[in-house]
Amino acid sequence: MNFKSDFPILKKKIRDNSITYLDSAATTQKPIAVINSIKNFYENSYENVHRGMNSLSIDATDQFERTRESVKEFINAKSTNEVIFTRGATDSLNIIANSITSKFEDNGEILVTELEHHSNYLPWLNICKKSNLKLKIIPVNQNGIIDEQQIIDNCNDSTKMIAITHMSNVTGQILDVKKIKNNISKDILVSLDGCQSIAHCDIDVKDLDCDFYSFSSHKLYGPSGVGILFGKENLLEEIEPVFLGGGMVTEVSLDSYSCAMLPNKFEPGTPSIEAVIGLRASLDYLKKINFYSFFEEERGLRKLLIDKLNNIPAVEIYGNSPNLNASSIVSFNIKNINYNDVATFLDQYGVMLRGGQHCCQPLMKKLNIQGSCRASFGIYNDADDVEILVESLKKTVKLLQ
Ligand SMILES: Cc1ncc(COP(=O)(O)O)c(C=O)c1O
Repeated sequence: MNFKSDFPILKKKIRDNSITYLDSAATTQKPIAVINSIKNFYENSYENVHRGMNSLSIDATDQFERTRESVKEFINAKSTNEVIFTRGATDSLNIIANSITSKFEDNGEILVTELEHHSNYLPWLNICKKSNLKLKIIPVNQNGIIDEQQIIDNCNDSTKMIAITHMSNVTGQILDVKKIKNNISKDILVSLDGCQSIAHCDIDVKDLDCDFYSFSSHKLYGPSGVGILFGKENLLEEIEPVFLGGGMVTEVSLDSYSCAMLPNKFEPGTPSIEAVIGLRASLDYLKKINFYSFFEEERGLRKLLIDKLNNIPAVEIYGNSPNLNASSIVSFNIKNINYNDVATFLDQYGVMLRGGQHCCQPLMKKLNIQGSCRASFGIYNDADDVEILVESLKKTVKLLQ
């Protein structure tokens, strides 16, 4: 079962081809419920939030705060104070790196992996360059797979933070966070880049027991322009905001200010209000279709694609290993054909996937490649899409080889 009919853009034809959308790891398409919610909000309730006493502002604020409640439920946070709206996951990750680290002693270590997306690598690299903190990078194996035991084994008394992806945007590997948590000191903080896992795992931040979890709405069938920073309340209370401005203060004089309570403390300026409203519509939609029931199917699509790719000579797949805990993403190359050429030719058949480095240059270097093709699945995909991709790929190989 898939939910293609709920997504207007997927009814479109390009050059007489139906769209076979296989780029959900980059961004997901939007169901009609999300599109309508934004239209409805603009037509009936639009005003700035948290500011005015007029009816529109009160209504807009109420809808905005209801999204916070929905996100809290969706990730099973303890309180809405733990749910911060940001401009996107990249924003969330930068905020964490630039705030929490001021609490760490000199020579403290921050642990990341070679799998990281630039958005969860550069903020930590930068903060370590600017301070006396050390960045420890846990390598992947030759196949691009990370072994959680290595993360555990590399922790020591100096380790302050493990800042890792929960699910790789290149290989689809899902890291066993509970295994890591159960085998490290309780004093080590864990920040998860949840950009991919939010759409393919049942996220329960209490159960994961992570200290921070970041994701973007646009990868979860919601609008772009809004991200979530989940943080444990006691930590968010302790740290200072990175961005300052209107709405996040209680008292301002010419030479001082005092921060507002959570969550406002971390939300300066006018947010992307309509995107926050649209995010609630996406969460409601996902609940209605029992989103979680699709996770097994996505794993099945990944496996089906890998099996079929293995039958095409000259295909090399990255991050593939039997019994790997992985979902919905397959990265591959065809020997002697540039990944961008493959993506461009596939587009002629309406097949949309990603060619590039996927913002993971350290991983590309480790795999000894310039880039790759990446197919990624969402709730609108099924086995027919795999078939269309594979058949189009065979034609592409014939043309290009
Ligand atoms: C694993 C991962 N981390 C971080 C990001 C950055 O997300 P955004 O561009 O929405 O801020 C992405 C987006 O591709 C991602 O896949």
